[in-house]
Amino acid sequence: MAQSTLMPLLMQYPLALQLPIRHLVVVGNDIPLTTIHRLTYYYFSYALKVKIAVFDITVYFKPLCQTEICSKMGAKVSINFDIDEMNQEYQSKTPQQLLELAFDTFNNIAISFSGAEDIALIEMASKITDRFQVFCLDTGRLHPQTYRFIEKVRDHYKINIELIYPEATDVEQLVKNKGLFSFYTDGHSECCGIRKIAPLRKKLSTLDAWITGQRKDQSPGTRNNIALIEADSAFSGINTQLTKFNPLANMNSKEVWDYLWMFDVPYNELHDQGFISIGCEPCTRAIRPNQHEREGRWWWEESTIKECGLHVGNIEIQTIKS
Ligand code: ADX
Ligand code: SF4
Repeated sequence: MAQSTLMPLLMQYPLALQLPIRHLVVVGNDIPLTTIHRLTYYYFSYALKVKIAVFDITVYFKPLCQTEICSKMGAKVSINFDIDEMNQEYQSKTPQQLLELAFDTFNNIAISFSGAEDIALIEMASKITDRFQVFCLDTGRLHPQTYRFIEKVRDHYKINIELIYPEATDVEQLVKNKGLFSFYTDGHSECCGIRKIAPLRKKLSTLDAWITGQRKDQSPGTRNNIALIEADSAFSGINTQLTKFNPLANMNSKEVWDYLWMFDVPYNELHDQGFISIGCEPCTRAIRPNQHEREGRWWWEESTIKECGLHVGNIEIQTIKS
């Protein structure tokens, strides 16, 4: 429905609203989001005033005001966010538009920031809203430069960056049994499991959606097929669905850096020393000319499995296809 045909309907709304509507469906596929906000807000405010009981409400978008009012009325809100459709629609849109969709759709959403060039996400988000959550998994093994960069970002954007820590007893046990560098001999999955995956799982259990800086060109072996929006089955709860947004998925490294230069965005000083992809200090190294950026990560391991498990779906996609 076009906005022009919707507006006269809106004007007649008070009459229609006098009926107790038990099930309201708000479809927002081809009308502007702002119109849906206005329409649903108008309806709920009115219904609240005249004490109309609304039992089930299905909305395609979840504006802030609407959910607040729904819960005051005791209505059950189900969110009908069609990921496949949105993925198709957003292929031709910008990363910023996808971020806007993410923030408009989910209140309980956070950017997962590694301290590398995914700073682009924070720059973009800061231009869209002044209220966004950012977290960083502090494995205890990040470079000093990365810790300094995290502080610089906090200060530059005047935002809080929540640092997420592993369970101390698990780390202690690992180090006691195997020392500080066991990953060089028996692979990175155990250490990553303790220092990254478990803390991430705990954090994600508190969120409805998360935003990552993953890109297809970061790892030809595992990230070729990442989508802009995914249902994150690896980290969803038993009865809850976690949605994952990868707004930079279709950008390449040059495009990200053009963006960072253009807006004079602060960056991790390791990038001036030949580092492209940046993770933990013992597992990341600078690359030589013409090496792929992924070759600087876990370089002693088989190149096709260079994923630490934060993005488990990437490995599953790869396994199914091979
Ligand atoms: S990794 O899985 O190999 O470590 P990579 O370094 O490519 O991931 O980063 C891809 C995205 O994963 C980042 O843009 C970020 O969203 C998320 N990520 C990676 N490491 C961290 C971290 N330490 N804390 C928070 N998010 C991270
Ligand atoms: Fe441990 Fe290396 Fe994984 Fe960091 S990247 S959690 S140091 S194995």
